[in-house]
Amino acid sequence: MAWKEICPLEDIPKLGARVVRTTDKEIGIFRTEDDSVFALNNLCPHKKGPLSQGIVHDNKVTCPLHNWKINLETGQAEEPDEGETSCFSTKVEDGIVLLDV
Ligand code: FES
Repeated sequence: MAWKEICPLEDIPKLGARVVRTTDKEIGIFRTEDDSVFALNNLCPHKKGPLSQGIVHDNKVTCPLHNWKINLETGQAEEPDEGETSCFSTKVEDGIVLLDV
């Protein structure tokens, strides 16, 4: 694993996200109510809506375009919708969010 420091946890709004750009993609870093942090490819599996602009609730994010619910742990759309976006490992150490790139 190659852990990269992203930002202090406090820089990600609760129930919100921030975006990290790599050479070939955007990754949304999401913070839940209980301060868990998850990372997904920022593109919704439906029609590529920006997931980072969605609302986080429980361990899901609702896409801002057509309201599909994407599981933050698996990247999978909630039934009856079908699709999946890629997930990345995260951890928080000493209040700093790290992403496995
Ligand atoms: S693009 Fe996300 S629900 Fe349609």
